[in-house]
Amino acid sequence: MPEPTTFNSQLSTPFKACLFDLDGVIVDTAVYHYKAWKQLANELGFDFTEEQNEHLKGINRIKSLELILGWGGLQKSDAEIQVLATRKNEWYVEMINAMKPDEILAGSRELLEDLRTAGIKIALGSASKNSSIILKKTRLADLFDAIVDGNVVGESKPHPAVFLKGAELLHVNPEECIVFEDAVSGVQAGKAGGMKVVGIGTKEVLKDADLVVSGLHEITIEKLKKL
Ligand code: BG6
Ligand code: MG
Repeated sequence: MPEPTTFNSQLSTPFKACLFDLDGVIVDTAVYHYKAWKQLANELGFDFTEEQNEHLKGINRIKSLELILGWGGLQKSDAEIQVLATRKNEWYVEMINAMKPDEILAGSRELLEDLRTAGIKIALGSASKNSSIILKKTRLADLFDAIVDGNVVGESKPHPAVFLKGAELLHVNPEECIVFEDAVSGVQAGKAGGMKVVGIGTKEVLKDADLVVSGLHEITIEKLKKL
């Protein structure tokens, strides 16, 4: 006699995995990046706007610095770029080392826990090389099945590598994944990887996302099923 069919929440969702960007999606570290880069630019004798800062989101450290130096009309050698990037990172690390678990953005922990309960796999897909500090300080590390960050993948978003690696580590196909992103480059990376993308921010900025919300507190598994 075959076993009677029991309800399995894992089978009831059309997606099998969620891939989360970190900065600006789960924690508000995008603000710390902005502060530290601004401080560096100011020391170099120029400033840049919040609108320009949008272009830095999702972009790795060295590429971000190259963009900023371009805005200031400055040219630096590779060795000087390394020194400046390290300086910015020291300020940034000082800020994230002071983070507390209550700095997690609204709804993040709840959504991660709900997804786990539903049997949906979870990976981090971040360009940051500092993700382990942030996950430790906010006590979120245990909620992830795989961590893909700037230490694992070299290509910067909008290249899809960071999310494709996440899907691979979770043993799911890209089309079975939903990406959560606050950066234009990150939304593009998810779409380039063949995934559904939830944008965290505004529709005006995150034009290519399949759904845009102001934060993870607006997300439920029911909403994700409709994507
Ligand atoms: C991304 C941020 O998550 O990580 C970018 O959106 C940042 O702003 C990038 O430049 C790299 O971060 P880190 O921590 O390695 O300097
Ligand atoms: Mg981000």
